[in-house]
Amino acid sequence: MAILLDMTPVHIPVLAGELIDLTSPAPGDTAVDCTFGAGGHARLVAERLGPAGTLVCIDRDPAAEARFDELAAEVACETRFLRMDYADGLALLAEEGLPVDVVYLDLGISSMQVDARERGFSYSYDAPLDMRMDPGQELDARAVVNEWDERQLAQIFRRYGEDQNARRIAREVVRRRRRSPIETTGELVEAIEAALPAAVRRSFGGGHPAKRVFQAVRIAVNGELDSLDRALPLAWNLLRPGGRFAAISFHSLEDRRVKRFLAERARGCICPPDFPVCVCGHEPEAEVLTGRAVAPTAGEVAQNPRAKSGRLRAARRLATGDEA
Ligand SMILES: C[S@@+](CC[C@H](N)C(=O)[O-])C[C@H]1O[C@@H](n2cnc3c(N)ncnc32)[C@H](O)[C@@H]1O
Repeated sequence: MAILLDMTPVHIPVLAGELIDLTSPAPGDTAVDCTFGAGGHARLVAERLGPAGTLVCIDRDPAAEARFDELAAEVACETRFLRMDYADGLALLAEEGLPVDVVYLDLGISSMQVDARERGFSYSYDAPLDMRMDPGQELDARAVVNEWDERQLAQIFRRYGEDQNARRIAREVVRRRRRSPIETTGELVEAIEAALPAAVRRSFGGGHPAKRVFQAVRIAVNGELDSLDRALPLAWNLLRPGGRFAAISFHSLEDRRVKRFLAERARGCICPPDFPVCVCGHEPEAEVLTGRAVAPTAGEVAQNPRAKSGRLRAARRLATGDEA
């Protein structure tokens, strides 16, 4: 008897209950999911919005759009999909003047993307070097690895991968590509491993020595930090007073940006510290709802190891000036 297995890669939404609790989507609300992916968070939000609510979903990946079509047919709220960079999507919504109750980002890549071997996101499978979230984009990982100069490579490995061996690895990549271009993820992993002395390789224990470099190349290919920097103020400004914002980050480069952004919004007086009384009249715009970033429980990580580095921060928009 043949057993048919559904091989469609699934994505389990991370910190989903916590995101719902902190953003509390309510019937009739308008919500924006900036990173639709497989729609796990979006489905939970849509259920709470009900038939009077509106859910706008954004993702730059056509595979996410196909998932969105399935979700749209099943939920009661009004739905809309924008296939574009979320910063561009948020700018478009701002131009339309859409007032929003809930906006959230679940950063990074989905399991659908990592597990689609041919897309070259993973160091665990040998595949062409690609890593584009939007396959229509020109820049791919092959171009970064083979065309960026040694200094640029070392810089992204250090800045985006926080890899202490950045210079060594960049040197080895450039040495190898002089002989012939590095075409696959497997060849990139070999270059990284060859760059590291045995003692350093052993120091990774259960981790993979290519993890940081793959993260760095992916961030560079997709301009991830630029998009996040552009998106944060746009997302925040869409919110009406009382609206809720949340972001789930998967590494410190993202989390630091979100944390700093929310801390700036939560600041009241911005007078110099030696002023005896406040003269600035600056009011806080945000109530931060997560003192420390919320991490997944041990139970969630046991069920979904990919949740391990997820960190959730959330805030509520306060009324200021005339709105108050
Ligand atoms: C972690 S997944 C989201 C998973 C989703 N929350 C779920 O429950 O299925 C991140 C998604 O964001 C998308 N993405 C990342 N950066 C983006 C950007 N700058 N613009 C648009 N989409 C982006 C990726 O293509 C990916 O599908």
